[in-house]
Amino acid sequence: MKVSCSVNGQVLVADDVWEGESLLYVLRERFGLYGSKNACEQGECGSCSVYLDGVLVCACLVLGGQVNGREILTVEGLSHRTALHPVQTAFVEAGAVQCGFCTPGLVVAAHDLLRRVPDPTEAQIREALAGNICRCTGYAKIIDAVQLAAGRMSG
Ligand code: FES
Ligand code: FES
Repeated sequence: MKVSCSVNGQVLVADDVWEGESLLYVLRERFGLYGSKNACEQGECGSCSVYLDGVLVCACLVLGGQVNGREILTVEGLSHRTALHPVQTAFVEAGAVQCGFCTPGLVVAAHDLLRRVPDPTEAQIREALAGNICRCTGYAKIIDAVQLAAGRMSG
């Protein structure tokens, strides 16, 4: 099937999308957007987190055929040209990135939290990011990064 959708503000079209193909596959393999990562492919790790019509979803759990005519925002779309989003900058500055595999999903999930709760408590951050698994950092610096971003975005 043919799928036409808005990705980061640009209309993109994929031809011959197989019925079982995930949105994550479409983003990475058809549109060349490699920011969203493929780790578990079963909704467990959060590394493929994107917005679909403004709602945070795991792209591996959404079928490519479901996104026809819809709007997707990926981690690439959070930055403005060469300027990183404050959440992205905070992850770098707080040292919240080691292998980086979990980082795009965490950045999108943290972005979603901060637009809903601009000044979250540590418990709210932990709860919001509970669906995002990181095998490297131990999470402390990820919490620091979200708090750093929150302070800058509200200040
Ligand atoms: S790859 Fe989608 S949740 Fe893990
Ligand atoms: S930095 Fe390696 S999984 Fe999170």
